[in-house]
Amino acid sequence: MTKVKRAARAVRVVGICGSLRPGSYTRMALDAALAGAAEAGAETGLIDLRAYELPMCTGNDKKTTPPPGVLRLRDEVRAARGILLATPEYHGGYSGVLKNALDLMGFEEFEGKMIGLVGVAGGKMGAGSALDGLREVARALHAWVVPEQASIPQAWQAFDEKGRCKDAELEKRLGEVGRQVAHFARLHTAEKAGEFLRLFESAAENPGGENR
Ligand SMILES: Cc1cc2nc3c(=O)[nH]c(=O)nc-3n(C[C@H](O)[C@H](O)[C@H](O)COP(=O)(O)O)c2cc1C
Repeated sequence: MTKVKRAARAVRVVGICGSLRPGSYTRMALDAALAGAAEAGAETGLIDLRAYELPMCTGNDKKTTPPPGVLRLRDEVRAARGILLATPEYHGGYSGVLKNALDLMGFEEFEGKMIGLVGVAGGKMGAGSALDGLREVARALHAWVVPEQASIPQAWQAFDEKGRCKDAELEKRLGEVGRQVAHFARLHTAEKAGEFLRLFESAAENPGGENR
């Protein structure tokens, strides 16, 4: 494939890191998932929420001009077709930091987009509860969550000092989440898929049904 063709088909996938902790394992897991999206031909970007100085969502920001960090976050997520949400398991759910960031956005940033989920946990049970919760949030935002997801139990022993996965299987799984997001985001925005949908929606109801 030529470089021009590849660039023309590139979709943008961003990853939002739901942990602010320096040395965060969530961030390491997210990096591996973003690498999978890049391998699948996506342009990728990392959203490190520490750099955005986000206020707490009051639900009242339509009446005032949001601070620059909120506008920047919205612009960056709006420009993406795929979004990886990464979170630590905190008390049986996803992090408040991530929820606050999501609450500062809405349908304009998420509707119709592909979402991939990645979670880490300190304990042996993994981050399943956090990921289940995020799946519901994504549905409420009218986004599509890909079936593959990655939950990392005992994350403190999963990465080496350079932040890479010690286990090749885990790295593959994290990468697969990113790959699926990139693939389905591309499929979803493809001209042929749009054409199919237009034909499907304009087709007669139950064509040929009367003769059966
Ligand atoms: C407030 C808080 C709550 C936590 N709750 C859980 C939990 O319910 N289950 C679990 O397995 N680990 C829990 N942990 C451990 C974190 O999931 C673990 O430290 C994880 O690595 C944090 O993500 P990070 O490395 O990206 O900061 C909790 C940690 C914190 C700070």
